[in-house]
Amino acid sequence: MEFRKAVSSDLERLFQIDTIVPSDPTRSEYITTAVASNDIWVCLRDHKIVGYAVLNHSLFNRPTVDMLMIAVEHRKSGIGTEFMKHLEKLNDRDELWTSTNLSNSPMQRLLACLDYKLTGYVDNLDPGDPELIFFKKLRKA
Ligand SMILES: CC(C)(COP(=O)(O)OP(=O)(O)OC[C@H]1O[C@@H](n2cnc3c(N)ncnc32)[C@H](O)[C@@H]1OP(=O)(O)O)[C@@H](O)C(=O)NCCC(=O)NCCS
Repeated sequence: MEFRKAVSSDLERLFQIDTIVPSDPTRSEYITTAVASNDIWVCLRDHKIVGYAVLNHSLFNRPTVDMLMIAVEHRKSGIGTEFMKHLEKLNDRDELWTSTNLSNSPMQRLLACLDYKLTGYVDNLDPGDPELIFFKKLRKA
């Protein structure tokens, strides 16, 4: 597994693996803007992009994993977990934040396995599905 920053020639593949793109036109704009801002990391297996992550400061100006997306056919093989571990090594503070919907059990299990702590929630973003905020204190080498 390899990780590198995304470049504009990756956009087509990123749109392909993101399951929200077909139903939400703002999603491709979000991805395009994040690539232009140099905020997207991609994970490659056998030289093919199998997932992407947006690392920025969108939550409280703290290091934040704003999105983690693994291609459907590559889920449940440890890529999401390895991707989070990679992002933990990169950030500029000894902490990492992220969030996910209450309905998203796969992401919550992944975060629990990596010792992320539930830190609060925000109502009224997605109707009936609060956004849970997670935090991890990192030990820097
Ligand atoms: C949530 C998400 C990122 C998880 O990614 P993933 O690569 O499937 O995560 P992992 O493979 O590391 O772990 C998921 C499961 O696979 C299991 N797993 C890990 N390695 C495995 C392996 N080699 N063989 C079998 N199972 C394995 C894990 O134990 C875990 O099991 P669990 O769900 O029963 O707890 C992915 O489902 C996804 O992209 N979802 C859509 C986008 C999204 O919701 N993102 C989060 C909000 S930003």
